[in-house]
Amino acid sequence: MITYVHTNIYKISDYARHLKELDADDRYSRFGHPASDYNIDQLVLGMCYNPKDHELWYARTDAGRVGWGHMAKNKDGSWELAVSVDKQYQRQGIADKLLTEMLEWAKFHHIPEVYMHCIENNKVIQHLAAKHELETKERGDGERTAAIEVPEPSLVEVSNQLFKEQTEIVQEINRLRGKLAGLWLNPNHQTD
Ligand SMILES: CC(C)(COP(=O)(O)OP(=O)(O)OC[C@H]1O[C@@H](n2cnc3c(N)ncnc32)[C@H](O)[C@@H]1OP(=O)(O)O)[C@@H](O)C(=O)NCCC(=O)NCCS
Repeated sequence: MITYVHTNIYKISDYARHLKELDADDRYSRFGHPASDYNIDQLVLGMCYNPKDHELWYARTDAGRVGWGHMAKNKDGSWELAVSVDKQYQRQGIADKLLTEMLEWAKFHHIPEVYMHCIENNKVIQHLAAKHELETKERGDGERTAAIEVPEPSLVEVSNQLFKEQTEIVQEINRLRGKLAGLWLNPNHQTD
């Protein structure tokens, strides 16, 4: 079974590892250029400095985290979407579902517009963009931008998203409660 989780900066090292493990073609498709490990480290460092401008989602199987969605806020207030899936888990609907999760979050939070860069020969992401009603335009240099003015959420979408976000908060409270219990049970506990 595959589960989809909205996460935060806690999982950033796993995200960096996933990006660094993409093969050369997928890295090129993801970034629109042959991103080096150094470029990925710079991206991750920027996320650490500005955690409020980044939202992450991952897809998890029994084998671990196998795909990631990333929304990044630009200085002009627009948000860029990016998605990538481990090679052996591609073509199983994971990016499709990650995009659904990201767009539902964007609607709920009244993000006016989101966009995604797609290289010209990446027909799969262009297909997915169209499926999610992002309109693609040529940008030149073998790239296209797929963008959508995010519509208002329906009542069902609002209540689904409210449920998801309340669940995330309850899970976080439980995590902290467990930590607190650990401190009470073992006040002399030392971390390595
Ligand atoms: C692009 C990428 C994210 C897609 O992930 P994925 O999990 O394999 O995608 P999904 O399985 O959800 O969807 C694939 C869709 O493309 C369709 N597809 C497959 N081959 C295709 C092709 N040659 N042309 C057009 N559509 C194609 C599938 O039928 C499916 O559509 P459907 O949902 O209507 O059935 C993945 O290939 C990847 O990680 N690439 C590297 C990073 C990247 O390019 N990111 C995008 C830019 S940010």
